This record gives sequence, structure tokens and C-alpha cells, in this order.
Amino acid sequence: MIQTEIMVIGSGLAGCIAALSAAENGAEVTLVTKTKDLISGNTPLAQGGIIYKGIFDSPQKLKQDILKAGDGNCWEIAVDQLCELGPKLVEDILFKKCNVNFDKKNSGDLHLTAEGAHSVPRIIHTKDRSGLSIHKAVVNEVLKHKNIKILTNHTAVDLLTLSHHSANPLDIYEKPACFGAYLINNDECNVFPIFANSTILATGGLGQIYLHTTNPSEATGDGIALSWRAGARCFNLQYIQFHPTTFYNEHDRFLISEAVRGEGGVLVEKNGKQFMQDIHEFGNLAPRDIVARAIHQTMLDTEHPCVYLDISFKDSEWIKMRFPTIYEHCLYNGVDICKEPIPVVPSAHYSCGGVGVSLKGRTSLQRLYAVGEVACTGVHGANRLASTSLLEAVVWGYIAGKEAAEHISSDKYFPEIFPWNSYDEYIDPALIKQDWLTIKNTMWNYVGLVRTRQRLLRATTILRHLQNEIEHFYQKAKMTRELIQLRNGVQTAIAVTSATLESRVSRGAHYIVS
Ligand code: SIN
Repeated sequence: MIQTEIMVIGSGLAGCIAALSAAENGAEVTLVTKTKDLISGNTPLAQGGIIYKGIFDSPQKLKQDILKAGDGNCWEIAVDQLCELGPKLVEDILFKKCNVNFDKKNSGDLHLTAEGAHSVPRIIHTKDRSGLSIHKAVVNEVLKHKNIKILTNHTAVDLLTLSHHSANPLDIYEKPACFGAYLINNDECNVFPIFANSTILATGGLGQIYLHTTNPSEATGDGIALSWRAGARCFNLQYIQFHPTTFYNEHDRFLISEAVRGEGGVLVEKNGKQFMQDIHEFGNLAPRDIVARAIHQTMLDTEHPCVYLDISFKDSEWIKMRFPTIYEHCLYNGVDICKEPIPVVPSAHYSCGGVGVSLKGRTSLQRLYAVGEVACTGVHGANRLASTSLLEAVVWGYIAGKEAAEHISSDKYFPEIFPWNSYDEYIDPALIKQDWLTIKNTMWNYVGLVRTRQRLLRATTILRHLQNEIEHFYQKAKMTRELIQLRNGVQTAIAVTSATLESRVSRGAHYIVS
């Protein structure tokens, strides 16, 4: 029997911080990721940066910006926790412990940038590769820690719970609790359990359930599906944030950071006319949901497949220095952003909802925590303020890791479980590919930026039928990472669609018309 005190599933920023925090509080930690490298998921793709503090800034000011962007749906005490603890943890963990090299001005002060709906510039960054530089620095610390064991290339199949997996029938009368997970080694495909006093889910986002997304291929909504099946409460899943500006061409979507607008970039129609100033007092820096819908409407009005983001009026050398990743990506795709505007469209970017957690990262299942994008802390409400996600990952990762470590001695019941029944039916990869296309197209067309009840009902029918099919072959199949992801993807798509169908009022990122 493999046993660990704390199992963290997912190695993005939240998972790494949780692992470090638990290990530093004396726990023996196993950090599991389905990818081959710890540097994976959404964290390394985050361009904009992380909130620190601006000049003449205060936790109160930040709180007001978050509440405004969240459109009346934020959990205020969670926002307080983020605003009060966040900047201090950035100093302690990112500056002092991990030595992240954030960009500085000639004066030696940190360079502060602005993004949508922030009342002051308060975001620190490393050019447009902020997530990558933070992630690398934190992973370095994780690799050095003797209490952290790393298990890459392993995928979680299901969480182990007293209600579902205990061989003791009387455990059904206990409070529902998680005591680890079934995993597979992606190469050998054998399923085995790991028992853990506590499990911390840090599986990241779900963008891959949409046709167009800024998320990497591994963002398949695993954590929502694992929690849903285990019986942990998930909520606010209707609030899928669409990033307003991703590079548009026929085959590609690529994040064009909001920091481009923060540094002066403007959105224009195909004829060069600006359109945001008539829509919101913050113009090009309005909250994301408002900008994304304004772009969508402009595309409809102008009968054009995209709008444009123009920063070409700035000095070329400055553009290349400030946004090297964006510059290179666009140039590779035939657009020189120093000379011409960037074609952009909205894409699915971030799930504001997720597995509901307390201020300490505890879910509704005993011994299960969730941190990072998979969790719903209540900070983001109906629409996330830019650059809060990395900060939330640091704050909740730190707190949940510490909390789990402090409860090791009380969270220690491990029941007998029945052995896993293995099957080895081969699944044609064409089925998996086509099923993903069905999920992605259904979610994009019917549960996208603009929703109607009819579209949501249609999506429900399609997804439920597909889920039946997938479950049918899943029951007899050889377990593979691809099959597990597909099963999770369809489950998460259904969870998002159900939450959306029940949410009849437009708010923040959820926009429904009759
Ligand atoms: C961006 O750089 O626009 C993305 C940052 C974020 O999603 O907070």
C-alpha cells in the first residue's frame, strides 16, 4: 500500500505552493502531475503578472476593484483575505524565498503595470512571461525540498472516498471524506491507489472543453469531474471567463495579454475606429466580460471575423522589449505588431467557479482541499479581475498546505478497499478525438459568450447522450490518460452546462438572452 501524508494533484503555481507550504510545516508530501514536466498547465502561460501593490494603493482599493469586476457575486471575506494577505505572501514567498526576478525601472523600483478594471497600476511582471518566471522559481524550491516526493506522468482516475470505496459498509454512516486517489502511470496504464491523510486538488482549468481557448491541452477540467463524482460541492461554474483578446487566425488562438491595453493599446474595428470608449467609463480597460461582449457585438455589427488591437504607434524597440512573446508569436504568424494592429477575438480563458472551498481551502468533503483555478474561493464572483489568479494561487495554496499539514494526525483513517477491476479493451483514438470535437463545439456554440435557454437545453441533450456512450466504453476499457481526460471533459462540460441552465439572470461572465 502506497501512503503519503499529503497528496497534491497538480503542479501549477497553486499546487507547488501548497506542496511547499505543507512540507515546510513538517508534512511528507507527494506531488502528482499527469504531465511529464512540473512546468505545465496555465501558470507558465500567464503573461500579464501578479498583483502586488501600487503607489497610493491599499487593500481597500484592491478590494473595491475585485468586487466591482465580480459584479456583486464575490464572497467579501475571501476578497479581504486575498487583499490583506496577498502582497505580504508575494514578498515572503516570491521575492524572498524564490527570488523571482520581476522587471524593475531604471530607478530600481518594481515596474507596475495596469490591466482591465484596476483603478491603479499594481501588477508586477517579468516582461510578458510572468507566469513562467514565477513557476520556474517556485518549482526550483519544490525540487530542493526533501519532504516532497514528485510523481510526474501520473493521472488521477478517481478520488478515494469512504462513501464510494471503503470495503467497510458502516463507513457510509461516517461524514463523507476523501482518503486519497486512484492513479495510473501514463506509460504502463496500471491503476493503483495512493492513500493520503489529506488530498489537495490543484488540477487547474477546464478551457479545453471549449473549441477556442487560451488554455494548454492538459486543461481538461479533471478536478471538477473528480470532485463531482466524489460528491464535493461545486458552484459558480456558469461564470466562464472569456479573455477578450486572443490572436485570431484560422487555426490558432494565442493570448494577447491585457497588459497590452494596460500599456496603451486600443481596440479598433476593421476600419480603425475605436469602439470601447462609448461602452464603458474605463474604455479599453473595462472589465473583461464587458470588453469580450463588446468585441463579439462589434464582430456581428461589422460582419467581420475579428477586431484589432493596436499598439503599433509605440516605439518598436520598446514593444519588442516589453512584449517579446507576443511579438514573436504574431510575427511567426505573419503580423508585425510594431507596424500593424493585431487581429483578436475572445476565447475561453478561466473558470471563476469550481470546487467550493472555505477560507482555508477546505472543500465540502472532509480531508479534501482545492486550490488554484479548480477551486471556487469566492474571490472572483461572476467575473475575475485580471491578474488575481496567480495571487489567489499563492494565498490559498499557502493556507491550504499549512492547514492540511496541521491536521495530519486527526485525518488518518484508511479503510480496506476492494481491488480495482482492470479491463483491457482497446479504444479507437478516432472515437476519443471525435468525442472531444463534439464537446468543444457544443460548449462553444451553445454554452459560450452568449447563452439562450434553447441552446443550453440542446447542449444538455448532446452532452448527456455523449456521456452515456463514453461511460459505456470506459467501463470495459484499458485505462489511459486520454480516456480519463475525455471522461472528465464530458463530466465537466455537463457540470458547467447544468450550472448555466439553472442561472437565469445575466451577471458578470454569464450572459443569457431569451
Ligand atoms: C493577461 O495577461 O491578460 C491574462 C492575465 C490574467 O488572466 O489574469
